[in-house]
Amino acid sequence: MKTTENTVLVTGGSSGIGLAIAKAFLASNNQVIICGRDPEKLAQANQIHPELHTVTCDITQSDEVNDLFGKIHDQFGGLNLLVNNAGILNRCEFVSDEDAFAKGEQEININLLGTLRVTKAALPLLLNEAESALVNISSIVALVPASNMGIYSATKAALHSFSRSLRHQLHNTPVRVFEVLPPFVDTEPVKHIKDKGKMAPDKVAEFLIKGLQTNQSEIIIGPAKALYIAQRLSPTQAERILQRRIAAASKA
Ligand SMILES: NC(=O)c1ccc[n+]([C@@H]2O[C@H](COP(=O)([O-])OP(=O)(O)OC[C@H]3O[C@@H](n4cnc5c(N)ncnc54)[C@H](OP(=O)(O)O)[C@@H]3O)[C@@H](O)[C@H]2O)c1
Repeated sequence: MKTTENTVLVTGGSSGIGLAIAKAFLASNNQVIICGRDPEKLAQANQIHPELHTVTCDITQSDEVNDLFGKIHDQFGGLNLLVNNAGILNRCEFVSDEDAFAKGEQEININLLGTLRVTKAALPLLLNEAESALVNISSIVALVPASNMGIYSATKAALHSFSRSLRHQLHNTPVRVFEVLPPFVDTEPVKHIKDKGKMAPDKVAEFLIKGLQTNQSEIIIGPAKALYIAQRLSPTQAERILQRRIAAASKA
């Protein structure tokens, strides 16, 4: 997939990994649109990177998503790269947390249903292009679930499964489906995890660009690779490794 001269939408592009991805695409000569719920965060991103196009949009709201794609169609005439990045992580122990159900429902609504909503709305535009791509940002916990983020892990596992089936459905079309599986990344939602191996968001963006250029459909990043290999050899052992890391990080 080419990584220049595209029209790119990064959902959740106002902070963290999404903003790093948006910056990387700007630097490689692409038109970049970002969306998010908080207009102030979008304005801050725009102040630092005035070339960014920003649209306020909550991906859990169908009317807002339809407006977003209406604007993209009218202002840019099309879209050939969608990065489904918007997502949340709620701290939650399912057994002991009174609010576990509500927290999980919010994660499912944003991480899974929101991503499906955006994907469905984007497909007519992506299918209309000679070369286009859809990138889902999942996580290594899609493959090795983390006990203290059970529903979050389940949303990412569902996104992993959906990415694989959509890749088959789109096989004979111009739309390529990519999935990015990062390790822990140094952003706001995981600042409570004191893991020294957290990756910088800019590094994730770098891996994504390289993965697109080399048509790597599943982009497994840095330390996530070791866990990926471990879970192929022994899923139980991989879960133990992750649990030990989480336990160590919560003590640090
Ligand atoms: N950090 C990690 O360790 C890690 C590891 C693997 C995968 N990931 C994934 O990477 C993605 C980005 O996470 P991050 O760590 O960079 O977190 P972040 O800095 O909190 O970024 C999340 C972005 O999503 C937006 N967002 C949240 N809910 C939204 C909604 N309903 N509609 C539209 N935008 C929404 C946020 O903006 P508003 O709040 O203004 O809406 C923000 O721009 C997520 O999908 C996350 O699951 C993160």
